[in-house]
Amino acid sequence: MEASEIRMDVTKLLERLSRLGKDQEGGVTRLLYDSAWKKAQRFVASAMYVAGLEVTFDEVGNVYGKLAGTDEAAPSILTGSHIDTVRSGGHYDGALGIAAGIAALSDLKAKHGIPRRSLEVVSLCEEEGSRFPLAYWGSGNVTGSKDFEGALEARDSEGITLREAMFNAGFDPLLYRQSRRSDIGAFVELHIEQGEVLQRGRFDIGIVSAIFGQRRYFVEVQGRCGHAGTTPMNIREDALAASAEMMVWMRRAAMQTGNGLVATVGKVDVVPNVANVIPGEVRFTLDIRHSDEAALDGFCELTIKAFSLIAKEMNVLVALECWLSELPTLMNVELGEAISRVCDRKGFSKLPISSGAGHDAGLFASVCPTAMIFVPSKDGHSHSSEEYTSPAEVERGTEVLTELLHTLAYGEEAT
Ligand code: GLV
Ligand code: MN
Ligand code: MN
Repeated sequence: MEASEIRMDVTKLLERLSRLGKDQEGGVTRLLYDSAWKKAQRFVASAMYVAGLEVTFDEVGNVYGKLAGTDEAAPSILTGSHIDTVRSGGHYDGALGIAAGIAALSDLKAKHGIPRRSLEVVSLCEEEGSRFPLAYWGSGNVTGSKDFEGALEARDSEGITLREAMFNAGFDPLLYRQSRRSDIGAFVELHIEQGEVLQRGRFDIGIVSAIFGQRRYFVEVQGRCGHAGTTPMNIREDALAASAEMMVWMRRAAMQTGNGLVATVGKVDVVPNVANVIPGEVRFTLDIRHSDEAALDGFCELTIKAFSLIAKEMNVLVALECWLSELPTLMNVELGEAISRVCDRKGFSKLPISSGAGHDAGLFASVCPTAMIFVPSKDGHSHSSEEYTSPAEVERGTEVLTELLHTLAYGEEAT
């Protein structure tokens, strides 16, 4: 198959996937186990089948397409990414790695036949944490690297538990631990950069060296509702005013670190959210990231202290619950060098880059040699409908992925 045909395949797969979950804002909303998610995973399974791969769903809804190798004892070389999205997310985040993985395996099979080591592509069921307060439900279960104790009782915004959602999607919640695997020899994820470093530097390919660590918190601020017209300013217990002070403090503190730390409040719920009532309760989220564990720890501790001081000053109560904690992760150096050699052979410019976004690759890195290949994102847009990577950029990324998989599964260059 020619390179132009590979591009056709990936682009077509991406277009089809985009339609499964396209929302009114023009973005894509596919949340774990919802109906768009089910359609998308079924579509992926059929595309894998058409590509000549052996298709299996595991116990949590990850879908695998396998091209079995001659060396049955050798652990598989796995590629892929996640099928879920944030609410009204883009068309490439996660989907690209799955579409390109299917195209790569189909291309390798057509050109080179059966590999020595088995090759697999996976469409991981969940990475974003956008329906339930848990992220990496796909790769966390496959790698066994996350403690999902109690996860089945997590609830979405409508009060549905993960246990119910899983059961309704046709999976047995009691069996989730059986999706664990111990036969993966390497993991390679192709993904959009989601920032604008590659575009600015006119680089074709990013070779990921590290993934930032991150913490996510729920913050609950408890004040007292009151009449907006009759309650004097000095005796209010205004949960929203206090929350606003906390948010401003955090933004300033993050900017003052000047070391690349990023901190975000992405969701706010105000109770009762009525114009003439002093807000009695506010819940908001924190997402804090840095490449260095000590810097991340230090900032989080400072934030917790600052929030309780602000709460005291403003006569409210504050409680923080950390529900996600991921350590910064290094990618495998040898695989990075192999990607670099592929880029050199193909004449693609490349840049070592670290990722502020979290990825399934971060979880695989704890169990096997792992690498990530980035392609440029137009103007750095991501987690929005404006996410865009041109067909030529998609093609270059897919070519690099295909050649790396070829080296790993057909050649002697083992990991
Ligand atoms: C996942 O995309 C994240 O980094 O939030
Ligand atoms: Mn994402
Ligand atoms: Mn992603």
